Amino acid sequence: MKVSVLALWSAAAALLLVAQAPSAAEASHHGGAGLKLGYYKKTCPGVENVVKYHVAKAIKANRGAGAALVRLIFHDCFVRGCDASVLLDPTPANPETEKTAPINIGLAAFEVIDEIKAALEERCPGTVSCADIVVYAARDASSLLSNGHVHFAAPAGRLDGVVSRAADAQRDLPDSTFTVSELIRNFRRKNFTVEELVILSGAHAVGVGHCSSFRARLSAPPAQIVPAYRNLLSGKCAAAAGGADDPVVANNVRDEDPRAVAAAFPSFLGKLRKARDFLDNSYYHNNLARIVTFNSDWQLLTEKEALGHVKEYAENGTLWDEDFSDALLKLSRLPMPPHSKGEIRKTCRWVNHH
Ligand code: HEM
Ligand SMILES: *[C@@H]1O[C@H](CO)[C@@H](O)[C@H](O)[C@H]1NC(C)=O
Ligand SMILES: *[C@@H]1O[C@H](CO)[C@@H](O)[C@H](O)[C@H]1NC(C)=O
Repeated sequence: MKVSVLALWSAAAALLLVAQAPSAAEASHHGGAGLKLGYYKKTCPGVENVVKYHVAKAIKANRGAGAALVRLIFHDCFVRGCDASVLLDPTPANPETEKTAPINIGLAAFEVIDEIKAALEERCPGTVSCADIVVYAARDASSLLSNGHVHFAAPAGRLDGVVSRAADAQRDLPDSTFTVSELIRNFRRKNFTVEELVILSGAHAVGVGHCSSFRARLSAPPAQIVPAYRNLLSGKCAAAAGGADDPVVANNVRDEDPRAVAAAFPSFLGKLRKARDFLDNSYYHNNLARIVTFNSDWQLLTEKEALGHVKEYAENGTLWDEDFSDALLKLSRLPMPPHSKGEIRKTCRWVNHH
């Protein structure tokens, strides 16, 4: 008995040491079990208010920034866990960080994260990880874009990784050309179910996509995309084919500009919305009506279980709000690979000097 008590004490002491020296810590890798609600209560009181203030400000100026933050948590957490590896800028020593990967096309809102980090460094230097900022910011963005319908308490205590490779992003993130089996396998590798694949895809109710991300849809048959909507997209994408000036369109057809809709898809005019980028279950209605942009969206109708969930969430928006909140929380718990090094970065775009 004595021995085990002793062992318990030394384990506790070791934990304490780790907690006091996070910059030298080995990242926790047991499914986010080390994360805690109110993690910064003592070390950086008010941290969540600071994040929310800056996210609200960014969304007020441009709701698209909110969409970008919702995508950012997915693209961070699916690659090496939630470790802010997606934020690292390329350097001469590491010219191909995750953000340079083709799959990360259009990733944005990095300057919102920078602004939050700068404010927090002033308030409590060296304390709040960029990885936690990404999670808090995505949580607040999804809440603000949904008028509070999407909401969850976000545990924290993540460390920032020091590894970021474009090849990892290419390997781990799903591509818009994937079939439903490829999508299911991709999510399965991260322990996400078919249902969660459908739930999380609902994030495409907001934001934008480049024409290069749905090029093949412009010649897909009517069973896959409504011809009038396809014409609308073709018109928008004719402007410039690929390259740096590749046009973007609204992910949610209800956010399209009225003139383009009047010209190509007049029967849809009545369904346009005044407020852009509202995060709700409209994605599922659009999907069943074959008016979504990405092949990966349409693919969800081609598998029995996935289709059942698409219908379920089209029917019950409240259910989606709740399940999307839970799925984002689960996403936020994806851990770094075992034995990864972690630190609290001084600047979210660069690892610290050692
Ligand atoms: C299921 C597999 C998924 C695929 C294949 C996929 C693919 C894409 C593509 C191709 C774009 C447009 C990029 C561009 O051209 O600029 C995009 C945008 C977006 N995605 Fe996904 N995505 C998936 C899942 C998710 C998930 C799980 C989330 C978040 C929970 C998400 C959130 C977003 C958001 C918010 C945007 C708009 C970003 C912006 O406007 O800045 N996506 N996605
Ligand atoms: C998925 O779950 C298995 C079994 O619990 C675990 O070993 C693995 O690390 C998990 N994968 C991820 C990416 O969390
Ligand atoms: C929709 O989902 C909510 C939340 O789970 C549930 O309380 C409600 O009963 C559902 N509504 C319908 C019509 O099934």
